[in-house]
Amino acid sequence: MKKPIRVAVTGAAGNIGYALSFRLAAGDCYGPDQPIILQLVEIPQAMKSLDGLVMELADCAFPLLHGIETADNPDDGFKGANQIFLVGARPRSKGMERKDLLQANGTIFIAQGKAIEKGAASDVRVIVVGNPCNTNALILARNAPGLPEDRITAMTRLDQNRAVAQIASKTGAQTTDVEHLVVWGNHSPTMFADYFHATVKGKPVAGAADTAWLEKEFLTVVGQRGAAIIEARGQSSAASAASAAIDHMRTWWTGTAPGEWASMAVMSHGEYGQPEGIMYSFPLTIKDGKYEVVQGLTHNEFAQQKLRATADELVGEREMVKDMI
Ligand code: NAD
Ligand code: LMR
Repeated sequence: MKKPIRVAVTGAAGNIGYALSFRLAAGDCYGPDQPIILQLVEIPQAMKSLDGLVMELADCAFPLLHGIETADNPDDGFKGANQIFLVGARPRSKGMERKDLLQANGTIFIAQGKAIEKGAASDVRVIVVGNPCNTNALILARNAPGLPEDRITAMTRLDQNRAVAQIASKTGAQTTDVEHLVVWGNHSPTMFADYFHATVKGKPVAGAADTAWLEKEFLTVVGQRGAAIIEARGQSSAASAASAAIDHMRTWWTGTAPGEWASMAVMSHGEYGQPEGIMYSFPLTIKDGKYEVVQGLTHNEFAQQKLRATADELVGEREMVKDMI
């Protein structure tokens, strides 16, 4: 058995946190020989509910769960953490866009950035899930200047998974048959699920599904899926979001398989002509815990316009939080 790693989860008593904690404790992220110590972080008002989660986790007698600690503040919650899932934040309700949450949620990531810089383990890796996740991750990075910025990422894996599932269903394939389907830009309706580079059973998706469906219905369904779930459930996605967070961190932990690409929002350094200093989702390969943006892809005019539109939105969001970064 390996030495346990410390995994912090904020918003642990919330909807996503509830689904995520059991998956982590069961070994779904770090594998069957990697024990973990969970550091569950909440706001003071939610600590009683968190106690209930702790009891349930204990009652599962998970072999890999070597400890559970709780905290009502980020300084205690992130101490020594190797892996951090930043989920705690307000979700949107019907009729809101994710960026409407910026003022309510942005300030959370100021204090958390400082706490991670001060107390987390030197190998820390962070995923931001709380919305609007790209710009919250930017706030976090700017408030943790001592932390290498490639340790901070935001989640667009849910969008990638949604896109893969739509293509598989349309073409009568399995999700595992769909490859190189990655999401560019913001976790918002402007995101671009890039079907031009994707394949299904090794053949271009662009030939396997008709162009009108890809350009209109596919992009709209993927871009609006979060809102459709809120409309149907009355609450935002929870188990699928937790599952995507596991996929994101597992891929970062194990690396991408040969030929595999993963979508994550990372600090832009101007790759593919996009603006620098925004957290933009790119196709990545990952090895030994370090990611690289896939190089050399070309985009037609339609795709270039999509890439730019989602970047423009992120630049607009950055402007809205300029007093926080
Ligand atoms: P929820 O309201 O059920 O739970 C949020 C939890 O966070 C609550 O328990 C709350 O007490 C806690 N919290 C709030 N502020 C906190 C803080 N400063 N520190 C620690 N905990 C804090 O919401 P949810 O459904 O679990 O969603 C959480 C966030 O994830 C929302 O912002 C939602 O929009 C976002 N989300 C993102 C994606 C994505 O793909 N990036 C997908 C789904 C949901
Ligand atoms: C999602 O995509 O399901 C989440 O970001 C929740 C939301 O507000 O859409």
